[in-house]
This record gives sequence, C-alpha cells and structure tokens, in this order.
Amino acid sequence: MLHPVVLSGGSGSRLWPLSRQNQPKQFLSLIGDHSLFQETLLRANALPDTGAPVTVCAEDHRFMVGEQLQGIGVANGAIVLEPSARNTAPAIALAALHLVAEDPAATMLVLPADHLIEDVDAFRDAVARAAVLAEQDWLVTFGITPDYPETGYGYIARGDALGEGGFKVDRFVEKPDLATAESYLAAGTYAWNSGMFLFKAQRYLDELQALAPAILAAARAAYAKANRDLDFIRVGKDEFAASPNDSIDYAVMEKTARAAVVPVSCGWSDIGSWSSLWAVAERDADGNRYEGDVISVDTRDSLVRASDRRMIATIGVEDLVIVDTPDATLVARKDRVQDVKTIVDKLKQAG
Ligand code: GDD
Ligand code: MG
Repeated sequence: MLHPVVLSGGSGSRLWPLSRQNQPKQFLSLIGDHSLFQETLLRANALPDTGAPVTVCAEDHRFMVGEQLQGIGVANGAIVLEPSARNTAPAIALAALHLVAEDPAATMLVLPADHLIEDVDAFRDAVARAAVLAEQDWLVTFGITPDYPETGYGYIARGDALGEGGFKVDRFVEKPDLATAESYLAAGTYAWNSGMFLFKAQRYLDELQALAPAILAAARAAYAKANRDLDFIRVGKDEFAASPNDSIDYAVMEKTARAAVVPVSCGWSDIGSWSSLWAVAERDADGNRYEGDVISVDTRDSLVRASDRRMIATIGVEDLVIVDTPDATLVARKDRVQDVKTIVDKLKQAG
C-alpha cells in the first residue's frame, strides 16, 4: 500500500515577516484558503489506493499540525515528532521504520509540505508511473521539467530510459550557479529535483544501511524508544540527536545505483520567497498582487500584503514587495527578496 509521508520540518525564513519560527510557511494560507501543508495532504489523500498519511514534524509544531489536519477533515494517520532537526534523510528514516513495522511491503510517497502543484492530474499520472518503477526496486524522484534557469533548486541529469516514462538517474547537481543552470536548460536532459520521492520503505532502509549506516542506526535507536500518544509518535531524543545531519539527496539519492527519475510538468513550485509567491499568485492587469486593505495609484508588478491592523497605500512604485504584520513590516525590491534570509539571520544573532 502507498502511504503519503509529508515532511513538515522547514521554517521558510525567506517569507519573513509572515513566517516565523513558530509559524513556518507551510502552515500559512499564502494562496487560497488552505495552507500549503493542508493542500499537500488533500492532494495526497485524493490519490487512488493510498493508505493513512505519515506526517514528520518538529515537536514544537504538533498542535499546529493537529489543528490543521482537523481543519480539512483528513485522517490524521501518524504524526512522527522529531525531537531535533536532522534534515530529511533521518526524518524519512523514522517514517520508513514506522511504516515497515506495520506493513513490511509498504511503499512511501515522500512529499515536502511546502510545494504548490497546479496540475494535479499530471501529478497523479506521474505518481502512478513512479509506483510501477518503485515495485521494481527503484528509488524514484520526481523531476520537474524546468522552464527557466532557477539556481535555488537541485538538478537531475537523466540516463537510460526505464519504461513508464522514467529514466535512470545519471547524476544530481545541487543548486548550480546561473551559467551552469542555463547550460542544463539548453541541454534538455535535466530536470529540477522536486524533493518528492517514491520508494518501498524497506528499500530506503536497505540503502541507508549500505550508504549512511550512522543515520539508520540513530533512527533505529530512536524509533526503538517510540511511544504513541493518540496520533503522535515520540522517539528517543538523545538517540535521534546522535544522527548525522544530512538530506536524502546527499545521503542516498546521489550515491545509490537504484535512483530513477520520472519527469513531470505539473505546475510545480517551491514557494521559497516573496518573488516566487508573486510569480504563481493571481495578479491584476498591472501585475500586482494585493492582499488585505491596499489602495494604490500607478503601481506595477508588486506584491502588497496588508495586515488586519492598517491600510497600505502606494503611489508610483514598481517591482516592490511590501508585507505588513502587527510587529514587523518588510519593504524590499522584488529582485532582492532572497536576502530576506539575511535579515532573519541578523535578528537571530541579535537574539
Ligand atoms: N520533517 C523534516 N525534518 N522535514 C525537513 C527537515 C527536517 O529536519 N529538513 C528539511 N525538511 C523539509 C522542508 O520542510 C522542505 O519541505 C523539504 O524538506 C526540503 O528542505 P529545504 O530546506 O526546503 O531544501 P531546499 O529547498 O534547500 O532544497 C531541496 O528542495 C528543492 C526543491 O524544493 C533540495 O532537495 C533541492 O535539490 C530541491 O530542488
Ligand atoms: Mg525548499
């Protein structure tokens, strides 16, 4: 049975001041009524023949996750609480251990909680094709056909065809520079690494055993101490903290001989920054995205988001991002919003 595994560990610092440590971006309603986390679960839940979901999140976010699941009426499934953040490889290991304990033949569809997918039919079709390859013991990654040279994503070069529209992975390249990304786009044989994966849970554990045994040992030791409290699963704190901090990309996908890629065009994006949110959001004829009480004259290609507390007025500006919250306001040029992270780092340093 195919189980969605939703990774909800990131903080989304580039969407400050809306995203905060205790209010990460996946829990915000950025587009539409549901949060990205809720959209992810609803999308997974609508796939045919899927079992109960597994959410992996930080201990501190358990109430938010519980509340948000309740808000969409999707079965909670299991909510695995990470005592500390050790990146995706150990997080996915916990989910895999949980799944094989209940069903040794379990297959997992790993979905980051903060992605937007516009063409759900294309996504569903890709999942079905990936499931066939996973049955043949491939570790499948979904490769998004790139439409511009984004440097914030990893790239996958494809090798031999495997059937089902899938390919062997030739190699992964994490976040290349612009010139390299441009050459990949021109080559036409590269896809964006979406961070979504499909494989047998046991197969993933076997690969960890071979390629990153310290991660598996730590996850196993932590999971051996698991106790369940309603839908929440708590694991051993010290045992988990002992795991190396590594992503599934580096720890497994770049090294395994069984990596496959299923290319898909499904209107996918990782809403990583205010400019990427602006790019996918509905805009008016002047290219503006307004939320809340905004009044403007001669304003173009901007994202303006007012809080409940006050109105925002703009005159004669373009390519701006203005985001107001009760205790902080961001005003930035749209082509500089990657640097929001610098502000967040400064705030952290200032304590
Ligand atoms: N549960 C859990 N625990 N989830 C985590 C953890 C963790 O410790 N660390 C990261 N995640 C989740 C994040 O919430 C996010 O949804 C996903 O895993 C990817 O982590 P990011 O930190 O957002 O990675 P990235 O954006 O720098 O790069 C990755 O994703 C890109 C696509 O969005 C890479 O896989 C790139 O190659 C890829 O293109
Ligand atoms: Mg990301």
